[in-house]
Amino acid sequence: MKIATRLIQSAIRVLSLFMLVLGFMFWSGRSLEMVPVHMRLGEILVSLLWILAAMGLRAGVKPGLVLGAMLYGVIVVAFGLRMGTLLPGRAHEAIRILHFLIGLGAIGLAESIGVRIRRRLLT
Ligand code: HEM
Repeated sequence: MKIATRLIQSAIRVLSLFMLVLGFMFWSGRSLEMVPVHMRLGEILVSLLWILAAMGLRAGVKPGLVLGAMLYGVIVVAFGLRMGTLLPGRAHEAIRILHFLIGLGAIGLAESIGVRIRRRLLT
């Protein structure tokens, strides 16, 4: 389980980097044709977060954290899929910032669960 945790965490880190690089390119108005790629990678990232959360549950990580992460994953995908339709016009900048922060939250949750699984496996 330790190796699987490391592998999933590494995959999430690599995907996070891609998500952020692509996201900031969109923000500056470039590479918008890559939005569907960004969305599919985001869905994969969330799927990996769910797998990590399930592993956390098995490893004895606090259920509140892992169940919260599972629910949070649904919010990340639902928000990402609908963000194009939310607050059109200038106010859309707020949606973009919110989406960015929600994405960072998912990355942070994966890190936090990964660390806790590995700590649990050591004791
Ligand atoms: C999980 C981590 C994620 C991170 C860190 C992330 C980050 C970003 C950033 C920085 C932007 C540019 C600013 C903005 O327009 O909001 C962006 C745009 C976008 N993201 Fe994400 N994202 C993530 C997940 C997702 C997911 C799961 C979806 C959908 C399934 C998604 C769909 C989109 C869309 C549609 C855009 C708008 C592109 C445009 O400006 O037209 N993202 N993302």
